[in-house]
Amino acid sequence: MTTDLKTISFARGAPSLDLIPIEELKESAIAAFSNDPAGTFGYGTAVGYQPLREWIALQHGVEADRVIVTNGSLHACAMMFDRLVAPSDKIVIEQPLYDRSLLMLRQRGADLVGIPLEEDGLNIALLEEAIDGGLQPKFVYTIPNFHNPAGCTLSLEKRQRLVELAHEHDFLIVEDDPYRDVIFDGEPLPSMLSMDDSDERVFFMCSFTKTVAPGLRVGYAIASQAVTKDLVTAGTNTYISPGMVSESILNDFVRAGKLNGAIATVRAALRERRDALTGAITELLPEARFVTPRGGYFLWVDLPESVDTDDLAARAAEAGVPITPGSDFSLKGGRSSMRLSYSGNSPEQIREGVERLASLING
Ligand SMILES: Cc1ncc(COP(=O)(O)O)c(C=O)c1O
Repeated sequence: MTTDLKTISFARGAPSLDLIPIEELKESAIAAFSNDPAGTFGYGTAVGYQPLREWIALQHGVEADRVIVTNGSLHACAMMFDRLVAPSDKIVIEQPLYDRSLLMLRQRGADLVGIPLEEDGLNIALLEEAIDGGLQPKFVYTIPNFHNPAGCTLSLEKRQRLVELAHEHDFLIVEDDPYRDVIFDGEPLPSMLSMDDSDERVFFMCSFTKTVAPGLRVGYAIASQAVTKDLVTAGTNTYISPGMVSESILNDFVRAGKLNGAIATVRAALRERRDALTGAITELLPEARFVTPRGGYFLWVDLPESVDTDDLAARAAEAGVPITPGSDFSLKGGRSSMRLSYSGNSPEQIREGVERLASLING
Protein backbone atom coordinates (compact mmCIF):
# COMPACT_ATOMS: atom_id res chain seq x y z
CA MET A 1 0.00 0.00 0.00
CA THR A 2 1.17 3.54 -0.68
CA THR A 3 2.80 4.41 2.59
CA ASP A 4 1.23 7.27 4.54
CA LEU A 5 -2.32 7.38 3.15
CA LYS A 6 -5.01 6.57 5.70
CA THR A 7 -7.22 3.81 4.38
CA ILE A 8 -10.73 4.91 3.47
CA SER A 9 -12.63 1.69 2.96
CA PHE A 10 -15.71 1.55 0.74
CA ALA A 11 -15.60 -2.23 0.96
CA ARG A 12 -17.19 -3.10 4.30
CA GLY A 13 -20.86 -2.75 5.13
CA ALA A 14 -20.37 -1.97 8.80
CA PRO A 15 -21.23 1.12 10.85
CA SER A 16 -18.32 3.26 12.06
CA LEU A 17 -17.59 3.20 15.79
CA ASP A 18 -19.04 6.69 16.36
CA LEU A 19 -22.49 5.29 15.46
CA ILE A 20 -22.46 2.54 18.09
CA PRO A 21 -24.50 3.39 21.23
CA ILE A 22 -21.66 2.41 23.57
CA GLU A 23 -22.88 4.20 26.73
CA GLU A 24 -26.41 2.80 26.40
CA LEU A 25 -25.01 -0.69 25.83
CA LYS A 26 -22.84 -0.31 28.96
CA GLU A 27 -25.94 0.59 30.99
CA SER A 28 -27.80 -2.36 29.51
CA ALA A 29 -24.90 -4.69 30.31
CA ILE A 30 -24.98 -3.63 33.96
CA ALA A 31 -28.76 -4.05 34.11
CA ALA A 32 -28.65 -7.45 32.38
CA PHE A 33 -25.85 -8.76 34.58
CA SER A 34 -27.66 -7.61 37.73
CA ASN A 35 -31.22 -8.55 36.82
CA ASP A 36 -30.71 -11.98 35.27
CA PRO A 37 -27.24 -13.41 36.02
CA ALA A 38 -28.42 -17.00 35.63
CA GLY A 39 -30.01 -16.42 32.21
CA THR A 40 -27.16 -14.21 31.06
CA PHE A 41 -24.22 -16.39 32.07
CA GLY A 42 -25.73 -19.86 31.71
CA TYR A 43 -25.74 -21.93 28.55
CA GLY A 44 -29.33 -21.16 27.53
CA THR A 45 -30.92 -23.09 24.67
CA ALA A 46 -30.72 -22.86 20.88
CA VAL A 47 -33.92 -20.79 20.65
CA GLY A 48 -31.91 -17.86 22.02
CA TYR A 49 -32.45 -15.69 25.09
CA GLN A 50 -36.15 -16.27 25.66
CA PRO A 51 -37.20 -12.70 26.66
CA LEU A 52 -35.51 -11.32 23.52
CA ARG A 53 -37.14 -14.03 21.41
CA GLU A 54 -40.52 -12.99 22.79
CA TRP A 55 -39.83 -9.31 22.15
CA ILE A 56 -38.90 -10.07 18.52
CA ALA A 57 -42.03 -12.20 18.08
CA LEU A 58 -44.16 -9.32 19.34
CA GLN A 59 -42.59 -6.86 16.88
CA HIS A 60 -43.52 -9.12 13.97
CA GLY A 61 -46.89 -10.27 15.31
CA VAL A 62 -45.91 -13.96 15.28
CA GLU A 63 -45.86 -16.70 17.92
CA ALA A 64 -42.51 -16.97 19.71
CA ASP A 65 -42.16 -20.61 18.64
CA ARG A 66 -41.58 -19.39 15.07
CA VAL A 67 -38.51 -17.36 16.11
CA ILE A 68 -34.91 -18.50 16.56
CA VAL A 69 -32.33 -15.94 17.72
CA THR A 70 -28.92 -16.60 16.19
CA ASN A 71 -25.32 -15.40 16.18
CA GLY A 72 -26.00 -12.70 13.56
CA SER A 73 -28.38 -13.08 10.64
CA LEU A 74 -25.80 -14.67 8.36
CA HIS A 75 -25.82 -17.56 10.81
CA ALA A 76 -29.61 -17.74 10.48
CA CYS A 77 -29.19 -17.68 6.71
CA ALA A 78 -26.66 -20.53 6.75
CA MET A 79 -28.93 -22.64 8.95
CA MET A 80 -31.90 -21.88 6.74
CA PHE A 81 -29.98 -22.89 3.61
CA ASP A 82 -28.76 -26.08 5.33
CA ARG A 83 -32.38 -26.93 6.08
CA LEU A 84 -33.87 -25.96 2.70
CA VAL A 85 -31.28 -26.53 -0.02
CA ALA A 86 -30.45 -29.93 -1.50
CA PRO A 87 -27.90 -30.22 -4.33
CA SER A 88 -29.40 -29.25 -7.74
CA ASP A 89 -32.43 -27.50 -6.22
CA LYS A 90 -33.52 -24.57 -8.36
CA ILE A 91 -33.15 -21.40 -6.29
CA VAL A 92 -34.03 -17.99 -7.70
CA ILE A 93 -31.62 -15.23 -6.72
CA GLU A 94 -31.41 -11.55 -7.51
CA GLN A 95 -28.61 -10.31 -9.72
CA PRO A 96 -26.39 -8.86 -8.42
CA LEU A 97 -26.51 -10.48 -4.96
CA TYR A 98 -24.74 -10.19 -1.57
CA ASP A 99 -21.55 -12.17 -2.11
CA ARG A 100 -21.75 -14.22 1.10
CA SER A 101 -25.27 -15.46 0.33
CA LEU A 102 -24.17 -16.29 -3.20
CA LEU A 103 -21.24 -18.26 -1.83
CA MET A 104 -23.35 -20.15 0.72
CA LEU A 105 -25.89 -21.18 -1.92
CA ARG A 106 -23.12 -22.30 -4.27
CA GLN A 107 -21.45 -24.29 -1.48
CA ARG A 108 -24.71 -26.18 -0.95
CA GLY A 109 -24.86 -27.15 -4.63
CA ALA A 110 -27.94 -25.09 -5.53
CA ASP A 111 -28.81 -24.65 -9.21
CA LEU A 112 -28.97 -20.85 -9.18
CA VAL A 113 -31.32 -18.96 -11.47
CA GLY A 114 -30.38 -15.27 -11.57
CA ILE A 115 -33.11 -12.67 -12.17
CA PRO A 116 -31.98 -9.08 -12.71
CA LEU A 117 -32.87 -6.25 -10.36
CA GLU A 118 -34.63 -3.08 -11.44
CA GLU A 119 -34.95 0.27 -9.67
CA ASP A 120 -37.91 -1.17 -7.75
CA GLY A 121 -36.36 -4.54 -7.02
CA LEU A 122 -36.57 -8.00 -8.60
CA ASN A 123 -37.79 -8.08 -12.21
CA ILE A 124 -41.01 -9.96 -11.46
CA ALA A 125 -42.08 -10.02 -15.11
CA LEU A 126 -38.95 -12.03 -15.98
CA LEU A 127 -39.56 -14.34 -13.02
CA GLU A 128 -43.13 -14.97 -14.22
CA GLU A 129 -41.82 -15.63 -17.73
CA ALA A 130 -39.34 -18.17 -16.39
CA ILE A 131 -42.08 -19.86 -14.33
CA ASP A 132 -44.38 -19.96 -17.37
CA GLY A 133 -41.48 -21.55 -19.23
CA GLY A 134 -41.35 -24.41 -16.70
CA LEU A 135 -39.14 -23.12 -13.87
CA GLN A 136 -40.21 -24.59 -10.50
CA PRO A 137 -38.05 -22.91 -7.86
CA LYS A 138 -37.76 -24.26 -4.34
CA PHE A 139 -37.49 -20.69 -3.10
CA VAL A 140 -36.82 -17.13 -4.13
CA TYR A 141 -34.14 -15.52 -1.97
CA THR A 142 -34.61 -11.77 -1.78
CA ILE A 143 -33.17 -8.77 0.05
CA PRO A 144 -36.22 -6.51 -0.16
CA ASN A 145 -35.00 -3.26 1.39
CA PHE A 146 -31.95 -1.19 0.40
CA HIS A 147 -30.44 -4.15 -1.32
CA ASN A 148 -26.91 -5.41 -0.76
CA PRO A 149 -25.24 -4.61 -3.14
CA ALA A 150 -27.71 -2.85 -5.46
CA GLY A 151 -29.29 -0.35 -3.01
CA CYS A 152 -32.80 -0.78 -4.50
CA THR A 153 -36.06 -1.60 -2.66
CA LEU A 154 -38.77 -4.03 -3.74
CA SER A 155 -42.00 -2.08 -4.36
CA LEU A 156 -45.22 -2.86 -2.52
CA GLU A 157 -46.88 -4.12 -5.73
CA LYS A 158 -44.00 -6.48 -6.43
CA ARG A 159 -44.07 -7.78 -2.85
CA GLN A 160 -47.77 -8.56 -3.22
CA ARG A 161 -47.24 -10.27 -6.58
CA LEU A 162 -44.30 -12.32 -5.30
CA VAL A 163 -46.35 -13.62 -2.37
CA GLU A 164 -49.20 -14.48 -4.76
CA LEU A 165 -46.80 -16.29 -7.08
CA ALA A 166 -45.35 -18.26 -4.17
CA HIS A 167 -48.84 -19.50 -3.34
CA GLU A 168 -49.86 -20.16 -6.94
CA HIS A 169 -46.66 -22.03 -7.85
CA ASP A 170 -45.82 -23.64 -4.54
CA PHE A 171 -42.47 -22.09 -3.70
CA LEU A 172 -41.07 -20.36 -0.63
CA ILE A 173 -39.77 -16.83 -0.22
CA VAL A 174 -36.66 -16.36 1.88
CA GLU A 175 -36.73 -12.69 2.88
CA ASP A 176 -33.36 -11.45 4.17
CA ASP A 177 -34.07 -8.03 5.62
CA PRO A 178 -31.26 -6.57 7.78
CA TYR A 179 -31.61 -3.03 6.38
CA ARG A 180 -35.37 -2.43 6.84
CA ASP A 181 -34.98 0.14 9.63
CA VAL A 182 -32.15 2.05 7.97
CA ILE A 183 -34.59 4.13 5.94
CA PHE A 184 -33.82 7.79 5.21
CA ASP A 185 -37.34 9.08 4.60
CA GLY A 186 -40.81 7.75 5.40
CA GLU A 187 -41.81 4.40 6.85
CA PRO A 188 -40.59 0.91 5.86
CA LEU A 189 -42.80 -1.09 3.49
CA PRO A 190 -44.52 -4.12 5.01
CA SER A 191 -42.49 -7.31 5.02
CA MET A 192 -43.66 -10.22 2.86
CA LEU A 193 -43.67 -12.20 6.10
CA SER A 194 -46.52 -9.96 7.29
CA MET A 195 -48.36 -10.36 3.95
CA ASP A 196 -48.42 -14.15 4.10
CA ASP A 197 -51.52 -15.38 5.92
CA SER A 198 -50.48 -19.02 5.71
CA ASP A 199 -47.46 -18.58 8.06
CA GLU A 200 -45.70 -21.21 5.94
CA ARG A 201 -44.63 -19.51 2.70
CA VAL A 202 -42.29 -16.72 3.79
CA PHE A 203 -39.20 -17.24 5.94
CA PHE A 204 -37.65 -14.07 7.27
CA MET A 205 -34.28 -13.00 8.64
CA CYS A 206 -33.17 -9.81 10.29
CA SER A 207 -30.29 -8.48 12.37
CA PHE A 208 -29.22 -5.93 14.96
CA THR A 209 -25.85 -5.51 13.18
CA LYS A 210 -26.88 -2.55 11.08
CA THR A 211 -28.83 -0.69 13.78
CA VAL A 212 -27.02 -1.42 17.06
CA ALA A 213 -23.60 -3.11 16.62
CA PRO A 214 -22.09 -5.87 14.46
CA GLY A 215 -20.01 -7.17 17.37
CA LEU A 216 -23.10 -8.20 19.30
CA ARG A 217 -23.62 -10.88 16.65
CA VAL A 218 -27.37 -11.00 17.20
CA GLY A 219 -29.77 -11.78 14.38
CA TYR A 220 -32.82 -13.98 13.98
CA ALA A 221 -34.97 -16.05 11.69
CA ILE A 222 -38.73 -16.45 11.60
CA ALA A 223 -40.00 -19.55 9.79
CA SER A 224 -42.92 -21.96 10.01
CA GLN A 225 -43.20 -23.73 13.37
CA ALA A 226 -41.97 -26.99 11.82
CA VAL A 227 -38.91 -25.48 10.15
CA THR A 228 -38.07 -23.39 13.24
CA LYS A 229 -38.13 -26.59 15.26
CA ASP A 230 -35.64 -28.15 12.85
CA LEU A 231 -33.39 -25.09 13.04
CA VAL A 232 -33.47 -25.26 16.84
CA THR A 233 -32.53 -28.94 16.76
CA ALA A 234 -29.66 -28.20 14.37
CA GLY A 235 -28.52 -25.40 16.70
CA THR A 236 -28.65 -27.62 19.78
CA ASN A 237 -26.60 -30.25 18.00
CA THR A 238 -23.90 -27.87 16.82
CA TYR A 239 -23.43 -24.95 19.23
CA ILE A 240 -25.90 -25.65 22.11
CA SER A 241 -27.00 -22.02 22.38
CA PRO A 242 -26.05 -18.66 20.87
CA GLY A 243 -24.22 -16.03 22.96
CA MET A 244 -26.55 -15.36 25.89
CA VAL A 245 -24.48 -12.41 27.17
CA SER A 246 -25.02 -10.41 23.97
CA GLU A 247 -28.67 -11.34 23.72
CA SER A 248 -29.39 -10.50 27.34
CA ILE A 249 -27.72 -7.07 26.98
CA LEU A 250 -29.66 -6.44 23.79
CA ASN A 251 -32.88 -7.54 25.48
CA ASP A 252 -32.42 -4.86 28.13
CA PHE A 253 -31.47 -2.34 25.44
CA VAL A 254 -34.63 -2.84 23.38
CA ARG A 255 -36.97 -3.15 26.38
CA ALA A 256 -35.56 0.06 27.89
CA GLY A 257 -36.66 1.81 24.67
CA LYS A 258 -33.16 2.56 23.38
CA LEU A 259 -33.52 1.02 19.93
CA ASN A 260 -35.35 3.94 18.32
CA GLY A 261 -32.59 6.34 19.35
CA ALA A 262 -29.94 4.03 17.90
CA ILE A 263 -31.86 3.72 14.64
CA ALA A 264 -32.30 7.51 14.43
CA THR A 265 -28.52 8.00 14.85
CA VAL A 266 -27.69 5.50 12.10
CA ARG A 267 -30.33 6.90 9.74
CA ALA A 268 -29.17 10.51 10.11
CA ALA A 269 -25.47 9.71 9.72
CA LEU A 270 -25.92 7.37 6.77
CA ARG A 271 -28.22 9.79 4.96
CA GLU A 272 -25.47 12.41 5.21
CA ARG A 273 -22.83 9.91 4.06
CA ARG A 274 -24.97 8.78 1.12
CA ASP A 275 -25.36 12.40 0.06
CA ALA A 276 -21.62 12.97 0.35
CA LEU A 277 -20.93 9.92 -1.80
CA THR A 278 -23.50 10.58 -4.51
CA GLY A 279 -22.50 14.27 -4.60
CA ALA A 280 -18.80 13.51 -4.98
CA ILE A 281 -19.41 10.87 -7.66
CA THR A 282 -21.68 13.16 -9.67
CA GLU A 283 -18.99 15.80 -9.60
CA LEU A 284 -15.82 13.74 -9.99
CA LEU A 285 -17.01 10.73 -12.00
CA PRO A 286 -19.73 12.20 -14.22
CA GLU A 287 -19.75 9.14 -16.50
CA ALA A 288 -20.75 6.86 -13.56
CA ARG A 289 -24.39 5.73 -13.37
CA PHE A 290 -26.23 4.86 -10.15
CA VAL A 291 -29.66 4.71 -8.53
CA THR A 292 -29.70 6.76 -5.33
CA PRO A 293 -30.59 4.41 -2.44
CA ARG A 294 -33.33 5.62 -0.10
CA GLY A 295 -31.76 3.82 2.83
CA GLY A 296 -29.24 1.16 3.75
CA TYR A 297 -25.49 1.00 3.45
CA PHE A 298 -24.64 0.61 -0.24
CA LEU A 299 -24.37 2.38 -3.56
CA TRP A 300 -24.07 0.32 -6.75
CA VAL A 301 -22.16 2.14 -9.46
CA ASP A 302 -22.00 1.27 -13.16
CA LEU A 303 -18.87 2.60 -14.86
CA PRO A 304 -18.14 2.77 -18.59
CA GLU A 305 -17.44 -0.67 -20.09
CA SER A 306 -13.82 0.29 -20.64
CA VAL A 307 -13.28 0.16 -16.85
CA ASP A 308 -12.53 -3.31 -15.45
CA THR A 309 -13.51 -3.16 -11.78
CA ASP A 310 -11.60 -6.34 -10.88
CA ASP A 311 -8.47 -4.51 -11.95
CA LEU A 312 -9.69 -1.27 -10.36
CA ALA A 313 -10.31 -3.07 -7.04
CA ALA A 314 -6.68 -4.22 -6.92
CA ARG A 315 -5.39 -0.74 -7.68
CA ALA A 316 -7.85 0.89 -5.29
CA ALA A 317 -6.68 -1.37 -2.44
CA GLU A 318 -3.11 -0.25 -3.20
CA ALA A 319 -4.24 3.37 -3.08
CA GLY A 320 -5.87 2.84 0.33
CA VAL A 321 -9.44 3.04 -0.91
CA PRO A 322 -10.78 -0.53 -1.09
CA ILE A 323 -13.95 -1.14 -3.11
CA THR A 324 -15.79 -4.35 -3.99
CA PRO A 325 -15.90 -5.25 -7.70
CA GLY A 326 -19.24 -6.12 -9.28
CA SER A 327 -18.05 -9.58 -10.30
CA ASP A 328 -18.06 -10.65 -6.61
CA PHE A 329 -21.86 -10.33 -6.63
CA SER A 330 -22.56 -11.72 -10.06
CA LEU A 331 -23.23 -15.15 -11.55
CA LYS A 332 -21.62 -13.72 -14.64
CA GLY A 333 -20.41 -10.27 -15.69
CA GLY A 334 -20.47 -7.28 -13.37
CA ARG A 335 -16.98 -6.37 -14.59
CA SER A 336 -17.65 -2.66 -15.01
CA SER A 337 -19.69 -2.20 -11.84
CA MET A 338 -18.68 -1.76 -8.21
CA ARG A 339 -20.28 -1.61 -4.77
CA LEU A 340 -19.40 1.28 -2.52
CA SER A 341 -20.37 1.18 1.13
CA TYR A 342 -20.84 4.64 2.63
CA SER A 343 -21.39 3.45 6.22
CA GLY A 344 -17.88 3.49 7.62
CA ASN A 345 -16.52 6.95 6.84
CA SER A 346 -17.31 10.62 7.53
CA PRO A 347 -18.53 12.83 4.66
CA GLU A 348 -15.05 14.40 4.44
CA GLN A 349 -13.35 11.00 4.20
CA ILE A 350 -15.89 9.92 1.60
CA ARG A 351 -15.05 12.92 -0.54
CA GLU A 352 -11.34 12.17 -0.25
CA GLY A 353 -11.97 8.51 -1.08
CA VAL A 354 -13.87 9.43 -4.25
CA GLU A 355 -11.05 11.79 -5.26
CA ARG A 356 -8.62 8.88 -4.99
CA LEU A 357 -10.92 6.61 -6.99
CA ALA A 358 -11.48 9.26 -9.65
CA SER A 359 -7.76 9.72 -10.17
CA LEU A 360 -7.39 5.94 -10.60
CA ILE A 361 -10.27 5.75 -13.08
CA ASN A 362 -9.57 8.92 -14.99
CA GLY A 363 -5.84 8.21 -15.06
C1 LIG B 1 -28.30 -9.22 3.09
C2 LIG B 1 -27.45 -9.49 4.28
N1 LIG B 1 -27.73 -10.56 5.04
C3 LIG B 1 -26.99 -10.84 6.13
C4 LIG B 1 -25.92 -10.05 6.50
C5 LIG B 1 -25.12 -10.44 7.70
O1 LIG B 1 -25.56 -9.78 8.82
P1 LIG B 1 -25.12 -10.23 10.30
O2 LIG B 1 -24.03 -9.32 10.71
O3 LIG B 1 -26.35 -10.06 11.11
O4 LIG B 1 -24.69 -11.66 10.25
C6 LIG B 1 -25.59 -8.94 5.74
C7 LIG B 1 -24.42 -8.11 6.10
O5 LIG B 1 -23.81 -7.40 5.33
C8 LIG B 1 -26.38 -8.66 4.59
O6 LIG B 1 -26.10 -7.62 3.80
